[in-house]
Amino acid sequence: MSKENEIYTDFINRMSYGEYLHLDTLLSSQKRLSDHHDEMLFIIIHHVSELWMKLILHELHTAIESISKGNLSPAFKMLSRVSKIQTQIIHAWDVLATLTPAEYMEFRDKLGQASGFQSYQNRLIEFALGYKTRHILEIYKKDSNLHKQLQLALQAPSLYDVSIQALAANGLHIHSELLTRDFSQPYQADPSVENAWLEVYKNVDKYWDLYELAEKLVDIEDSFQQWRFRHMKTVERIIGHKKGTGGSAGVTYLKKVLDHRFFPELWDIRTKL
Ligand code: HEM
Repeated sequence: MSKENEIYTDFINRMSYGEYLHLDTLLSSQKRLSDHHDEMLFIIIHHVSELWMKLILHELHTAIESISKGNLSPAFKMLSRVSKIQTQIIHAWDVLATLTPAEYMEFRDKLGQASGFQSYQNRLIEFALGYKTRHILEIYKKDSNLHKQLQLALQAPSLYDVSIQALAANGLHIHSELLTRDFSQPYQADPSVENAWLEVYKNVDKYWDLYELAEKLVDIEDSFQQWRFRHMKTVERIIGHKKGTGGSAGVTYLKKVLDHRFFPELWDIRTKL
């Protein structure tokens, strides 16, 4: 073999691919509680989703920081990446849909009360997008570090809060209370925000950056709802209308969550334009 094509085989003193990625930890984390074949799919689909959620959070936090400093362009790149990741996790439902009700019933009891409802990364994403559900924090009381992390995330301005601040920073009128509001409270739609977005959409050349920001937000919310919808339908396909392991009414609960809107004015203005 020529020198240019030399493949490294001696890793005694070199870092290997597996070491860099800590594959020993990653690949030893899929521990089935039953000896049923299909439980592996169930665990891996959750692990893959949680890994993508980790990257979504990484991107969202930096995008929020960037928008809050008035640097919109770098945030656009990150928000586009979030959208692409969302496409991945939406398609992940196709893989899980190969799990039949009979297969799931083989190991469902082993889950006890564990449920995706307790996914803290999902809550951190919801908080970052502005859906602040304080009562959820109760679940994480047994882990004080995690509880603290969620509390801080609850209090922090969301992607929508900093977007509203960007509207104001660009000279659009926003009710002043909104800029200094208690960010741990759920966001309530506001007429000044609606008017500001209307102004942006009617004058796209003047407000191109804000217009682009608005469309990125709509992309993310649209995909989030698609994810919620595919989750609900996949759950219906697998457990019908049984109660969830987390204690909710199951599909009825998941349908109700679909009504929630992250960026309400951005949807409302579409009727008014
Ligand atoms: C067989 C597969 C699945 C079933 C039957 C299922 C069922 C459910 C049910 C019934 C709920 C409502 C809470 C409860 O009572 O448990 C729920 C919530 C949730 N699940 Fe799943 N799920 C499945 C797979 C997944 C996967 C792969 C993920 C990815 C991480 C996931 C993430 C979530 C999240 C984030 C919630 C909270 C939703 C909210 O409160 O808006 N689930 N799931």
